[in-house]
Amino acid sequence: MKLIKIILAMAGLVATPIVTIAGEDSQLTINEEPFVTSVAAPAHLENVDTIYSGWTFRTDETQALQMDDFDNPAFVFIDQAIDTFNAVDGSAGKACVSCHESPEVFKGLRASMPRVNGSGELETIPELVNNCRTERMGAEKWKWSGGKMAGMIGLIGLQSRGMTVDVAINGPATSMWEKGKELYYQRVGQLDMSCSNCHEDNYGNMIRADHLSQGQINGFPTYRLKNAKLNTIHGRFKGCMKNIRATPFKEGSDEFKALELYVASRSNGLMIETPSVRN
Ligand code: HEC
Ligand code: HEC
Repeated sequence: MKLIKIILAMAGLVATPIVTIAGEDSQLTINEEPFVTSVAAPAHLENVDTIYSGWTFRTDETQALQMDDFDNPAFVFIDQAIDTFNAVDGSAGKACVSCHESPEVFKGLRASMPRVNGSGELETIPELVNNCRTERMGAEKWKWSGGKMAGMIGLIGLQSRGMTVDVAINGPATSMWEKGKELYYQRVGQLDMSCSNCHEDNYGNMIRADHLSQGQINGFPTYRLKNAKLNTIHGRFKGCMKNIRATPFKEGSDEFKALELYVASRSNGLMIETPSVRN
């Protein structure tokens, strides 16, 4: 623990000694529906007793933005995605709605992703979307963190809002989950730090002006006030790796997919909050 403080200090990141969970006693409601934001950690987590939604660690003002869809800036992009869902694109002359009656058919999907498919491949929502675009619509792939993709995965994720995260980690997922776990605990970059150094050992502490969370992904894609757009899971992983001066993996890479599976499994028991709001 001491070593980590020294490393944080070296990086100009000041950690305060007392762990505080600011919003521990505050209740997240969205459109007046109550949400579970802390719960006993899943059995596979060895070093953490309770898991907390990232919402818990944000300021009152940021928290409030997520509590009403009229105030939540993410909905601008969700509304655009509804238009995209209904718009014909590509050589087959089809729209998403030509085959999927409405976004609501995707209810439940987000809560179980990523998952291993029948061919033993780990699949993520952006890949499922792009697969439909290239194989079924004759349309171009969307960029992983581009505006169209982020909006569409926001719209798909929203259908599972309030559902409990339940990502499978056994059977065919085991080897990829283990690879993700390894990456989570692996020290990298000039600062020689792992995800766990911040999000497991130091959650609740301050890093510069930022209140460190457990780095959960149950609210993604997330609207960030910092860049005023929807941010994807792999986009966030990339940002954290850059902050410790490591060379980030590519969005959509096997490494980030395995890491996503592992990090998602650390949220097992929390609720999907897509689209969340962060600083
Ligand atoms: C020509 C028909 C067709 C079009 C157009 C199409 N899809 Fe699909 N899509 C399918 C089929 C078939 C499947 C696989 C079976 C299923 O899960 O419904 C699928 C699967 C999916 C899945 C995975 C669902 C699951 O539960 O596993 C997602 C997400 C998805 N499509 C999103 C989209 C989006 C977004 C668009 C528009 C950009 C789109 N699709 C366009 C036919 C289509
Ligand atoms: C130097 C400390 C540090 C390291 C190491 C680090 N992060 Fe972060 N991370 C942050 C800070 C600061 C934030 C913004 C505040 C927060 O939500 O914790 C953040 C945010 C996140 C979030 C968004 C959480 C939310 O609720 O919106 C995720 C996900 C995340 N990190 C994942 C990772 C992963 C995966 C790794 C390892 C590849 C990693 N982080 C490494 C500091 C770090």
